[in-house]
Amino acid sequence: MILPVILAGGVGSRLWPLSRDLMPKQFLQLDGEQTMLQETLKRLSGVDTLKPLIICNEEHRFIAAEQLRQIQMLDRNIILEPVGRNTAPAIALAALTALEKGVDPLLLVLAADHIIGDIPSFQKAITKASTLAEANQLTTFGIVPTAAETGYGYIRRGTAIRDAYQVAEFVEKPDIETATDYLASGEYYWNSGMFMFKASVYLAELKKHRPDIHEVCVQAMVGLNVDLDFMRINDEVFQTCPSESIDYAVMEKTSAAVVVPLEAKWSDVGAWSSLWSISEKNAEGNVFKGDVIAVDSHNNYVFAETCLVATVGLNDAVVVQTKDAILVAAKDHVQEVKSIVKELKDAS
Ligand code: GDD
Ligand code: MG
Repeated sequence: MILPVILAGGVGSRLWPLSRDLMPKQFLQLDGEQTMLQETLKRLSGVDTLKPLIICNEEHRFIAAEQLRQIQMLDRNIILEPVGRNTAPAIALAALTALEKGVDPLLLVLAADHIIGDIPSFQKAITKASTLAEANQLTTFGIVPTAAETGYGYIRRGTAIRDAYQVAEFVEKPDIETATDYLASGEYYWNSGMFMFKASVYLAELKKHRPDIHEVCVQAMVGLNVDLDFMRINDEVFQTCPSESIDYAVMEKTSAAVVVPLEAKWSDVGAWSSLWSISEKNAEGNVFKGDVIAVDSHNNYVFAETCLVATVGLNDAVVVQTKDAILVAAKDHVQEVKSIVKELKDAS
């Protein structure tokens, strides 16, 4: 029994100024015909699963519910977090919710910020992963790296097992020198950020490596409030939860991880440069959205929301114009856009 768990509670700060607190990137239509969340769910069509569980911030409950309604998902299952505490607690809440129903399904944890071009290959990888997850492994999906990206987790291949490998080492978001070495070695995969494991196995590993997070999540489930589409946890308790991703809390530490290689035209829409990479470019290597004029400009991503944007002699840049903010960034610095958001938050 597979239970899809869709993580939709991130802030998407590297896609500022398009991705905002009130409308983070998973609810935006960035590349596909529908929003990132809707595309994530549609990708599972044809796979035999339980009703997907969505987990997002309380603030976005109506946006999430409406987007599910638009894809005819009328019987909804949404866990609301009063505050974001990153993915380790979010997945724990999903696992506890499942166990509460007296079942121990295979959680298929999916981020809501990915693009996958080859859906049949993705679905085949899920089938492989489910066999490993049934055998109590923490399974992730590995992507052959094409650049020394610092925004990803890196997985060193260990011993081969069936169609997969044991994880010899998992390093979340290494610095650029380390990422460059990993890329050159040919021994590493990128962590796709999608996982498959039994609910009970994840909780046991979390308890082993981060008992503090495990305990807060168990306590936050006491008196779970279920109201139509929405499940609400104990607000005060969850506020005290440490904020940590599954990658740091569990995947870097566990010895029970395996990696299934995934060749499915995967990409993460983490930062503006990835959106440029996956989009169709004109003869000069530019991607333009909206009203843009460019003279002698190459390899840029330019987004004009409400007015004309013109560039002259501009190369390898990102320009994003929205009605109340404009971003101008060098394409190789876009990972740092999140520090603008932090500065704005600190100042407010
Ligand atoms: N419910 C919930 N609550 N969801 C969250 C929260 C939270 O507090 N924080 C993040 N998410 C969701 C995001 O919306 C996204 O869909 C997913 O969890 C992953 O979070 P990101 O913040 O986008 O992670 P990342 O991109 O920096 O890193 C992860 O993904 C990479 C691949 O895209 C890691 O798993 C890396 O190892 C991996 O390479
Ligand atoms: Mg991401």
